[in-house]
Amino acid sequence: MDENRLNKLQQSFGIIGESEKIKEIIETIDQVAAADITVLIAGESGTGKELIADAIHKQSRRKHQPFVKVNCGAIPAGILESELFGHVKGSFTGAIEDRKGYFETANNGTIFLDEIGEMPMETQVKLLRVLESGEFLPVGGSHGKKVDVRIIAASNKDLAEEIEREKFRKDLYYRLKTITITAPALRHHSEDIPLLIEHFALDFANRNNIPFKGFSPSAIHLMENYRWPGNIRELKNFVESMIVLEKGEVINSARVARRLGVEKRPVSSNLPVRVSKSVDQAERELILQQVLLMRRDIADIKDALSGKSAGVLLDLPPKTRELQKIIAPPIRDEETIESEPEPEAVQDYTVNPNKLGEVSLAEVERELIEKTLKKFHHKKRQTANALKISERTLYRKIKEYGL
Ligand SMILES: Nc1ncnc2c1ncn2[C@@H]1O[C@H](COP(=O)(O)OP(=O)(O)OP(=O)(O)O)[C@@H](O)[C@H]1O
Ligand SMILES: [Mg+2]
Repeated sequence: MDENRLNKLQQSFGIIGESEKIKEIIETIDQVAAADITVLIAGESGTGKELIADAIHKQSRRKHQPFVKVNCGAIPAGILESELFGHVKGSFTGAIEDRKGYFETANNGTIFLDEIGEMPMETQVKLLRVLESGEFLPVGGSHGKKVDVRIIAASNKDLAEEIEREKFRKDLYYRLKTITITAPALRHHSEDIPLLIEHFALDFANRNNIPFKGFSPSAIHLMENYRWPGNIRELKNFVESMIVLEKGEVINSARVARRLGVEKRPVSSNLPVRVSKSVDQAERELILQQVLLMRRDIADIKDALSGKSAGVLLDLPPKTRELQKIIAPPIRDEETIESEPEPEAVQDYTVNPNKLGEVSLAEVERELIEKTLKKFHHKKRQTANALKISERTLYRKIKEYGL
């Protein structure tokens, strides 16, 4: 599909993402929308199944006809059948008149059967009949009704597993699954996270007129590495809640880590390679990390030559940097956790005047590093910050002095 068409469709569907997985989904929607074929949408909770169903209807020739959404998991099993297929007067206590079901309401349009895995087995039999003949019998009715309805179903349960558990009919499953679109878990297309964050943040801030200064690059990095069990829904809610809670502040990684309940890892540390990443991506990151380390070494050497021992500037992956330009001004103090005291230079290093002439510089340095480490509970980053040296230099010194 050419880029133009892809962009146009994405915009019309409101499906954000530039990953191959998202592109594939847009293409499949485009391919299957026009025909009246049944589509099953699989995927974990919050991955965008409903958004995909909306898109299919919107892109189909039925777009001006009704689109009826039924959450099979939210309707009590006892009344689901009458809700779907209607009932005739007197068919059960309370059925005081004939009532149309969702299938009749959706005639000529599309019906979206969400959480189909929750549908009771008896109702599944009736659904199979509609799928095969377009006919159904209202509850208590004696003659069938015919409808022209396109069916889209979704499930976050593994239906094959439900068959094993005898909760789902095999014949219905085979009828439904011919065209399956699987909405990927967010951790499997984490490269889309920066774009999604940007989209949700700007949209929410604009709609609610809340000042928003952006997320820092390392905050975005942290969110890219989080697992998001609730997928895109969780990310969206998280971004929105951060904007409300951190009103008007640049949202840094410490704040994100705290709210996510995870430990903040420095951008530059040797992060373990996540298994969900493609080999290519993992390799790229490794190379990037190595380049980063080399740059720090060079900076260290430069500093040493010029007599400075200032901390070395951290650099960030280009993608993150680019995004930062869009949504956040560069800041330097983003790693500071508010609740913790600013790391201050240690004042009490002891060069006893009486010992002058006996103590070497190395000994003072050793003592200083040892005490600073202790003060910051062996947190290397804070120690390095306080000593105004790079973490790498700190590691080297620790090794050198056998600390
Ligand atoms: N690719 C995407 N781009 C933009 N927003 C998305 C995307 N995917 C999902 N969303 C948003 O995330 C939220 C959850 O999506 P949706 O309701 O479609 O998930 P779901 O798979 O149906 O979840 P559940 O199984 O819990 O019903 C919605 O607000 C939706 O708009
Ligand atoms: Mg849903």
